[in-house]
Amino acid sequence: MSQFYEKHIFVCENIREGENARVSCGKHNAKKIREYLKQKIKELAPERKIRVNMSGCLDRCELGPVQISYPEGDWFTLRTEKEVDQFIKYYIQSNSLESLDTLRIV
Ligand code: FES
Repeated sequence: MSQFYEKHIFVCENIREGENARVSCGKHNAKKIREYLKQKIKELAPERKIRVNMSGCLDRCELGPVQISYPEGDWFTLRTEKEVDQFIKYYIQSNSLESLDTLRIV
């Protein structure tokens, strides 16, 4: 099977308003995290076909900000730039998932 992107990463940026609204990734820095992730991947792996897109709610709101990466279908919570750096190092550059256990969502 051919695939257009080597990896396609979706970062939830959904924002819920309202006093009794369920928590949402967009209220926990998701946009800034996605932009940082996209910029760092461009800098560190410009030759690779890795796409980073925003997404709407992925229904794992309480674990957010969340992202899912295809084709593997792996879920991670990325809260800080330091965690994004860790994700890039062990998921994008070396594929060492065991080093990402603290960020991984099962
Ligand atoms: S708001 Fe991000 S998963 Fe629901």
